[in-house]
Amino acid sequence: MISEFLNQIIELIEKKIGLKPKSVSFLIWEWVLKERMKLCNLSTYEDYYKRLQMSPHEVQELVELIVVPETWFFRDKSVFEFLTSLIHEKKIQNGPLKVLSVACSTGEEPYSIAMTLLAAGLAPKDFMVDALDISKKSLTKAEIGIYGKNSFRGKELDYRDVYFDHTSEGYAIKEDVKQHVHFYFGNILDKTPFDAHSYPLIFCRNVLIYLDTVAQERTFKQLKSFLAPGGYLIVGPAEMQIARNAGFEPVHFPRAYAFTLEQKEEKPVEEKPRPIQAKGTRQRLLQKLCAPFAFADLPPSAEAPAMIQVAPSIQGSDTKTLMLEEALKLANGGFFEEASSVCFKFMHQYGANPDIYYLLGLIQHAIGDEVKAEEFFHKTVYLRPSHYEALVYLALLHEKKGEFNKAELFRKRAQKNL
Ligand SMILES: C[S@@+](CC[C@H](N)C(=O)[O-])C[C@H]1O[C@@H](n2cnc3c(N)ncnc32)[C@H](O)[C@@H]1O
Repeated sequence: MISEFLNQIIELIEKKIGLKPKSVSFLIWEWVLKERMKLCNLSTYEDYYKRLQMSPHEVQELVELIVVPETWFFRDKSVFEFLTSLIHEKKIQNGPLKVLSVACSTGEEPYSIAMTLLAAGLAPKDFMVDALDISKKSLTKAEIGIYGKNSFRGKELDYRDVYFDHTSEGYAIKEDVKQHVHFYFGNILDKTPFDAHSYPLIFCRNVLIYLDTVAQERTFKQLKSFLAPGGYLIVGPAEMQIARNAGFEPVHFPRAYAFTLEQKEEKPVEEKPRPIQAKGTRQRLLQKLCAPFAFADLPPSAEAPAMIQVAPSIQGSDTKTLMLEEALKLANGGFFEEASSVCFKFMHQYGANPDIYYLLGLIQHAIGDEVKAEEFFHKTVYLRPSHYEALVYLALLHEKKGEFNKAELFRKRAQKNL
């Protein structure tokens, strides 16, 4: 039986961070608590719970072990292209530009912002970046500014030669970049030191997915109060629907995941793809199992679906179903690599499966890799030629590439399979 005190410990930390219940697996809680209790010389959850109530220091130690610090330089490259375009097109900047990076982790995000602004031609006196995180350990690492290989992903690493010194301890960010970034320890749910309506640009990426609804609302209230009139908010790829629900309007720049509080520009006037109307039972099935599929409503630059859902042909309560559920849960939580790895494990054990390929396609689409997404959707329809959802995605992807004949073929095939 689960100790009542174990539940209370979990609730205390979830409330402090704003964590969605069950977003951290029970096994991780048990492991983390074992570590802390050993260090505190305590052997029962009850004693440790009492310690937590008396010691803010111990609460912080536990928070440090629960938060997910995963980050890297220029994560989602197109976001930084968007930032460059804002500077070049003079869409922001009235006086020195202030940028805020909320949930900045170990500093890769705010330093990437600073490098982008320097590369875009802003003079050192023209901007500053404030950055906030709840993890003291991450902030200490950010302030030191020395990074290992894991912080540099992808193939385009030219910026590393320009803005870092290669030292025996790792890549040290140069002072010219460092001086622009100020780190603050704090919780986005609490009072912060930031001035009202003074940031034309706010980054709050890959943290909202971990927060419960109340914490998300509180965070948006704060972000809206920091945002300068006409400013931009940038979220993570899996957080677009959360931003929409909070009243933000998307900006039409592919994979920038950028929003404003007021509509900035006219939507491009383009002929809308002819709607594929789902009917009757099929429609209900699609609504239930395949939420991203309001095909006619997809904007010209199709965005990542907020929630990944897939029609399971795999049913029952066996290991297969559990694996699919696990993969879906991970994908919807934004853990795309982990979700993909469950998918591949599934196919390794049980053989190729169209629903798993479809899920892999959705994951790649959410990440923004349309080439791989297309590959997986092709595999889906190879294994199940009548897979309606994959056919629609293929139509959409070919249309985006300007391959209208191919798009039309897939659209017709999809319509036949309604
Ligand atoms: C996955 S990292 C995201 C880092 C970076 N924004 C990115 O997208 O690469 C999530 C960060 O959110 C921070 N965090 C979680 N809850 C927070 C809260 N309530 N207030 C401030 N930071 C928080 C964690 O400490 C962690 O560093």
